[in-house]
Amino acid sequence: MTATLIDGKAFAAGLRERIAGHTAAMKERGITPGLAVVLVGEDPASQVYVRSKGKQTRETGMNSFEHRLPTDTPEAELLALIEQLNEDPSVNGILVQLPLPGHMDEAAVINAIRPEKDVDGFHILNVGRLATGQKSMVPCTPLGSLMLLRDHLGSLSGKSAVVIGRSNIVGKPMAQLLLRDSATVTIAHSRTQNLPDLCRGADILVAAVGRPHFVKGDWIKPGATVIDVGINRTDDGLVGDVDFAAASQVAGAITPVPGGVGPMTIACLLANTLTATARANGLPDPEGLTP
Ligand code: GUN
Repeated sequence: MTATLIDGKAFAAGLRERIAGHTAAMKERGITPGLAVVLVGEDPASQVYVRSKGKQTRETGMNSFEHRLPTDTPEAELLALIEQLNEDPSVNGILVQLPLPGHMDEAAVINAIRPEKDVDGFHILNVGRLATGQKSMVPCTPLGSLMLLRDHLGSLSGKSAVVIGRSNIVGKPMAQLLLRDSATVTIAHSRTQNLPDLCRGADILVAAVGRPHFVKGDWIKPGATVIDVGINRTDDGLVGDVDFAAASQVAGAITPVPGGVGPMTIACLLANTLTATARANGLPDPEGLTP
């Protein structure tokens, strides 16, 4: 192994510590940040995520409100709950865990969240604000990936970045953030031709495809920085989208799975909740938590 390991677990722990410090200072002024998480149905992975979100929210000193609804909940009922949370001044952030059951219109549900409380950054207004360089809520996984990239590389300006994956949750917002940092960005996806060659030109490679060991070692430019967003459950345990054993022989730096991007996502959710709370109270954005 020649690559430097990018330790997202340690970075996330430090980030949570800073967030806890900001939270304590806010509480001294009588403001306690509150995050509401809504889970519809019984998806096992979602249940795990929601549980750790609640735990880390409380550990940081914030209020955690959990709402669990049965799978067959009518969409109107979920929308009514969101409206109630929109109006509740003790709730600064609202997260509706995805995926939603098939009978629900995901876009309609997300866009019902007040944009200022949309700590996922999925509301169409936040997507538009990010794309146009305005102050917004930024999706957690791309934000966490950006923090790791900046921490390792310093400036991203002029670097060639390839993002594999075009999802609304990771690929597209990741590309926007890299572009804002003046990287030269290519978004690749399942129809991209000659993906290995494309990747071999990348100083920064972000893999967000959701397929175990999809990115091979010989796709990596020597010395490149590789961010592996994949969390795939296989018979060999959790593995990323990148063939880590091979890629770490070539890359300059790489995130492991687990212990890379994963822990950054919830830490950035807490960061967004703190930012939303500051903005709701007319305070400046806390330092270092927004791009
Ligand atoms: N499901 C998988 N990732 C996410 C996420 O970042 N936010 C929400 N709300 N649901 C998810």
